[in-house]
Amino acid sequence: MTTPDNAHEFERELDLDAAQRTDHHHGRHRDDAEAVDRSAHVAAAEGALVRVDDAIAGYLPGVNILNGCDLYAQEGELVGIIGPNGAGKSTLLKALFGLVKIKEGTVTLRGETITNMRADQLVKRGIGFVPQSNNVFPSLTIEENLQMGAYQAPGSFTERFDFVAGLFPTLADRRKQRAGSLSGGERQMVAMGRALMMNPSVLLLDEPSAGLSPVLTDEVFVRVKDINATGVTVIMVEQNARRCLQICDRGYVLDQGRNAYTGTGRQLATDPKVIELYLGTLAKA
Ligand SMILES: Nc1ncnc2c1ncn2[C@@H]1O[C@H](COP(=O)(O)OP(=O)(O)OP(=O)(O)O)[C@@H](O)[C@H]1O
Ligand SMILES: [Mg+2]
Repeated sequence: MTTPDNAHEFERELDLDAAQRTDHHHGRHRDDAEAVDRSAHVAAAEGALVRVDDAIAGYLPGVNILNGCDLYAQEGELVGIIGPNGAGKSTLLKALFGLVKIKEGTVTLRGETITNMRADQLVKRGIGFVPQSNNVFPSLTIEENLQMGAYQAPGSFTERFDFVAGLFPTLADRRKQRAGSLSGGERQMVAMGRALMMNPSVLLLDEPSAGLSPVLTDEVFVRVKDINATGVTVIMVEQNARRCLQICDRGYVLDQGRNAYTGTGRQLATDPKVIELYLGTLAKA
């Protein structure tokens, strides 16, 4: 894993990325009191690689955690999801990945309905998921963790291992080391590497920077951008909201299981309402 030389280097990289982006998506807000207008989502989600439409989901009968969520990612996009604790960010990723029952609404991949499909089926179809916690097998080596990631397609192990090693050279160098003995940042690399073993077209990441120091957070974000640059569409939940908005093409603010704000990373990061309501407190968290 190469480290950005310093924080300025990293900032510059982010700013360059921001400058290269075209702002073809418009900021879309709504106040909680307003009736939900899904038309902007419906129009912009046309042709999306993956999309969630008006999802209602929860863990228990009669208790909905997602109250009509919309999300889409166009092929090649890096999409961020931010919002307060308990907003339903992890639930949204889990619902997309078949781990939480969607009671109403749909999930589609390349136009095909995949709502409530089993996770192993979704992996076969090209969705990778890195959960928020317990995302490596600590007693297994790095190599064994990556083998677990490829269990549905063991024949492609060597080719995929080389791909992952290209992104995370440290993992290849230390392939015989147990994942439990790795640092938090290294474990995240293993977890992302494991999910990449099946050559996903969409990678779902739940708080890849959780518990990491600012320097390691930057490293993980650089890696996420590297993964995205190989053509993998990324949907990333992040507690580190400002950082997330800096690197993502588009972002969503979730609040109480609903879409609160959406727009390009830059639009959200500079929106006074978003700053006041979400970035101030989240930045301190
Ligand atoms: N397995 C579960 N069973 C029942 N309720 C759950 C379960 N997991 C989460 N919840 C509830 O769903 C709500 C949303 O949780 P979720 O984990 O999606 O939030 P989040 O936005 O990811 O928060 P955080 O930033 O803390 O990770 C919370 O009220 C939580 O208590
Ligand atoms: Mg969460």
